[in-house]
Amino acid sequence: MNARVTGPVLLAMLFVAAVGSGSYAAGGNVAKGKVLFTSLCIRCHGVDGKGDASMKFNPPVADLSSSAVQSKLDGSLMKAIHDGRKNTAMGAWKFVLSDEEIRDVTAYVRALGSSAGRKLP
Ligand code: HEC
Repeated sequence: MNARVTGPVLLAMLFVAAVGSGSYAAGGNVAKGKVLFTSLCIRCHGVDGKGDASMKFNPPVADLSSSAVQSKLDGSLMKAIHDGRKNTAMGAWKFVLSDEEIRDVTAYVRALGSSAGRKLP
């Protein structure tokens, strides 16, 4: 399969996984996601995902706990993590994280938006 085909196929698979999941993204492991988030994402997104860490960017870091972000589909959050956002500080994590790890960290991003988020492992 060439790269042109692989991208959309992968996204379709992520989407199906997301839609078929229960409350947390694509059945990702929240505890594993927290470990990844802590080591990779906190420096920009902050401990609680609100984007109030010390580093400032233009455009600003997304508040992952906001309803603006939480109202997006799992597939769209995973795409943002997988491919990054053009012309922003948000890089493409597909070079660093496996698909499974992207699911885990997305599950943790979901947890940041729920009231239970603060009490997670
Ligand atoms: C170097 C700083 C930086 C790091 C590290 C970083 N992000 Fe981001 N992230 C950003 C910025 C800036 C944005 C806003 C991009 C935009 O304006 O579209 C963003 C946006 C996002 C979004 C999209 C929110 C939306 O509106 O759809 C998600 C999801 C996200 N980040 C998750 C993560 C995860 C998970 C990690 C760790 C694997 C991570 N980010 C690491 C800076 C960062």
